[in-house]
Amino acid sequence: MSRIAYVNGQYVPYAQAGVHVEDRGFQFADGVYEVVAVKDGGFVDLEGHLVRLERSLDELRIERPMSRAALTVVLRETVRRNRVRNGSVYLQITRGAAKREFPFPTGVAPTFVAIARHLDWAKGAANAAKGVAAITQPDIRWGRCDIKTVGLLPAALAKQTAKEAGAYEAWLVDDKGFVTEGSSSNAWIVTKDNVLVTRMPSHEILSGITRAAVLELAKREGLKVEFRPFTVAEAQAAKEAFVSSATSFVIPVVTLDDKPIGNGGPGVVVAKLRSLYEAHAAAHSTDWQAPFLAP
Ligand code: PDD
Repeated sequence: MSRIAYVNGQYVPYAQAGVHVEDRGFQFADGVYEVVAVKDGGFVDLEGHLVRLERSLDELRIERPMSRAALTVVLRETVRRNRVRNGSVYLQITRGAAKREFPFPTGVAPTFVAIARHLDWAKGAANAAKGVAAITQPDIRWGRCDIKTVGLLPAALAKQTAKEAGAYEAWLVDDKGFVTEGSSSNAWIVTKDNVLVTRMPSHEILSGITRAAVLELAKREGLKVEFRPFTVAEAQAAKEAFVSSATSFVIPVVTLDDKPIGNGGPGVVVAKLRSLYEAHAAAHSTDWQAPFLAP
C-alpha cells in the first residue's frame, strides 16, 4: 500500500508530497511540530498535543492554518488513509514559503503537512522490560526549548552520539552540570524514598504531554514529586530513572554513561508508572475510535 501525506489541503502519494524550496521551515527551521501516538486506532492525549501546538505557534507568531477541530479531521484522515492502527502521526506547520529574507513575510499562508507511520508498540514494551542505556551530552540547544520547533539539529547530533554508543537516549546536561531532558524525551529519577524528581517546566525543557499525564497518574497513586533539576551524579546514584515521550511512553533508564542505576535493571516504581500510562493510553485512545472506524 502506498503511503499518503497531507500537504496544504491535499492528500497526496509520497512521491508527490513536497513543499516549496523556499519554505521557511527548510531555510530557517521556522516551524513547529507535534508527534501524537496512535494506539489501537485512536490518538493518545490528542488534546494536550493540540493545545501545545497552538502555544508553539502563538509564541512564534505563526498563523494557525485551521481550527483545532479541522486539524483533528486532517490528522484522523491521514491516519485512516495510511491504515495506521498502531503508530504515530507527525504534523508540521511552518511560517510558509517566501523569498529568503530574515524578517517574517506578510500575506503568506502557513505550510501544513501531516504524515502517519506504523509503530510496533511491542518493541517499546520489550525495551521497558529490560531497561535502556542513556549517555550524557552537553545541552547546546537554544534558549526556548519550551517551543516545539523543527530546529532539531542539536537533538539529532546528541541522538546520533547515543546511537553510536549503543544507547537509547542522550540526556542533555546544562553548563551547571544539571540534566535538562532527553534529546527527544523528558528525564526523571526516582530517589531512594520513592520520590519522583523532574525539572520544573521552563524555557530549558519541552513540557511533555506524556510527562503531564505521568504526573497526574503519579499523584493519583500517592507518589511524591519534586520539581527540581538533578545532576548526573544524583541520577547515577538514584534508585530508578526513566524517560517519557509520546512514542516511548515510559521507559526505564538502567545505565547512565555506563554506570548502573539502582541494581542496573528496571525498578518497581517505573514499572508501575509504565503500566498506569499504558492503561491511560488505552483509555484515552478510545475517544477517537468511533470516527476512525467510520467509513
Ligand atoms: N519528542 N523533550 C523533547 C526535547 C522532545 O522532543 C519530546 C518529544 C519530549 C516529550 O514530549 P511528549 O511527551 O509530549 O512527546 C520532551 C517527540 C516524540 C519527537 O520529537 O519525536
